Amino acid sequence: MTTVNVYIPPTPASSYEIIIDDGLINHPQKWLPKNLSFHHLVIITDHTVKKYYLNPLVEALNKLGHYPLTLSFPAGEKHKHQATKQILEEKILRKHFGRDTLCIALGGGVVGDLAGFIAATYMRGIPYIQIPTTLLAMVDSSVGGKTAIDTPQGKNLIGAFWQPKVVVADIDCLKTLPEEHLISGIVEALKMFLTNDIDSFHYLQKNMSAIFQQNKRILKTLVQRAVTIKAQVVAADETEKNLRMILNFGHTIGHALEKLTQYKLPHGYAVAYGILLECSISRELGYLGEQHYAQIENALNQLGFHVDYLKKLNITNIIRATKSDKKASEGNARYILLKQPGEVHHENGMVAHAVDEQVVRAAFRRL
Ligand SMILES: NC(=O)c1ccc[n+]([C@@H]2O[C@H](COP(=O)([O-])OP(=O)(O)OC[C@H]3O[C@@H](n4cnc5c(N)ncnc54)[C@H](O)[C@@H]3O)[C@@H](O)[C@H]2O)c1
Repeated sequence: MTTVNVYIPPTPASSYEIIIDDGLINHPQKWLPKNLSFHHLVIITDHTVKKYYLNPLVEALNKLGHYPLTLSFPAGEKHKHQATKQILEEKILRKHFGRDTLCIALGGGVVGDLAGFIAATYMRGIPYIQIPTTLLAMVDSSVGGKTAIDTPQGKNLIGAFWQPKVVVADIDCLKTLPEEHLISGIVEALKMFLTNDIDSFHYLQKNMSAIFQQNKRILKTLVQRAVTIKAQVVAADETEKNLRMILNFGHTIGHALEKLTQYKLPHGYAVAYGILLECSISRELGYLGEQHYAQIENALNQLGFHVDYLKKLNITNIIRATKSDKKASEGNARYILLKQPGEVHHENGMVAHAVDEQVVRAAFRRL
């Protein structure tokens, strides 16, 4: 079993562990925090994850004398909204559960964001535990305390920073994960490594086929390396004033591609193409060398992402879509730029930069 600590200053009380191992769902005694007292327990999951993992978790909790209320909602981003939140909250309220309730989010990023936001606001905040079941949720969304729902105006626009008490990454859950979602998780790990850790970038490249073959040892190391970075970044900048923005690498273009495809392009795939074009921007500005660009392009090619997809798109539409990104500043999209794999470009201490539209166009032509 591997553990990584997330230290959120200045309140050590909001620090927590990420526990990574196989078989964790069947052994809650390994991760239920001993210092957490609660009288009620609610598990929130989606209909797909429920089929695979709810019963084993409930049975294991029963053995410890806990009898949770179990709630689920239809899987998918389109249910991460206010109506679902309200339905679930009313079900908990009807049981008269008070502040002494512990919430467990069992699922991918959608469940984690939604259940985390319920925990953040129910009775002005109750403790919760993240049990991520997708690779993306294990390497990224379950750590860092960002919780949110979508609105017709955009994704994740209503939410709160609310840190979990513990994150439990059970690698065994990945066995049932469709390949498309495995790839999305690998892309988010790649994002983490390209901005922070060249060794892990090489590790990922070297072990790509072992990851697809579900090699447990490699998967555990991959998750551990990615969350170690996420934990460091979050500890340094919990509320995204500067450094945490490096986690948006690939996302300025990625979000624009999601919008232009009416969210038909999966998030991780959009980020992969976003990384390609944003690296081309870094190259165009002279920060990223040709050889390093080729190395990154090669890693994305290994995952099935090629520039041909981007070349068929209209750059004017992409640029327009980047301007409405919620991280744009005064209508200008901001980018995380690379100097080399593992190192981002800093200017005046800042990591996110406005880029002239003509540079984006030139970078697109050079793909
Ligand atoms: N809070 C954050 O910091 C943060 C960071 C990144 C992304 N996100 C959010 O995460 C969400 C995307 O997360 P996701 O990719 O995990 O999507 P998801 O939660 O929709 O999961 C993808 C699909 O896989 C299914 N699934 C989950 N675990 C499974 C398993 N073990 N076996 C089989 N099927 C399984 C789900 O039911 C769903 O259909 C987005 O809403 C995004 O905004 C949040």
